[in-house]
Amino acid sequence: MTSRLLMLLSIATGAVTADESQMITALTAANVDPAQARLNYMLNCQGCHAVDGRGLNDIPTMADFVGKFLAVDGGRAYLVRVPGSANAPLSDAELAEVLNWILITMSYAHLPEPFVPYTPSEVYTFRQQPLTDAAAKRQQLLTLLENG
Ligand code: HEC
Repeated sequence: MTSRLLMLLSIATGAVTADESQMITALTAANVDPAQARLNYMLNCQGCHAVDGRGLNDIPTMADFVGKFLAVDGGRAYLVRVPGSANAPLSDAELAEVLNWILITMSYAHLPEPFVPYTPSEVYTFRQQPLTDAAAKRQQLLTLLENG
């Protein structure tokens, strides 16, 4: 069972752990409607990234990882500029919401402190700079991450 499903179940039963309550607080602070974000993720992202963000076939794993990109120069823009994000049939506000939801629910432990959620206008700006070679940019960011 995925942690998100557990989270939803525990909300339903009232048994919320400390970690889950931190996530819920972060979602609220980021103005994320989890049901709406999850639906947009299902419709637009899940086909490649899988229900839990672990990725299908060669798609990289976002679960327990994607938040690390926010720590390196260019990483924050990368998560928006990547084709799956930038070209999604979602408004800037919807894309900001899905990305904030992904970061908080799939990679909470890796978020910088404090975590600054994406805003629609920030997403708009990054979307104007699409990546020509996403795989190369990804590799460059991973090298930055490794060199810490
Ligand atoms: C057609 C398959 C596909 C779809 C659909 C897709 N993605 Fe992706 N996504 C990828 C691939 C492949 C990468 C790795 C970078 C690259 O080569 O484009 C990636 C990378 C990412 C990354 C960066 C994480 C990393 O480890 O590099 C984010 C964030 C992301 N996608 C978000 C989304 C969101 C949000 C959606 C839905 C709105 C979405 N993607 C839809 C294939 C997809």
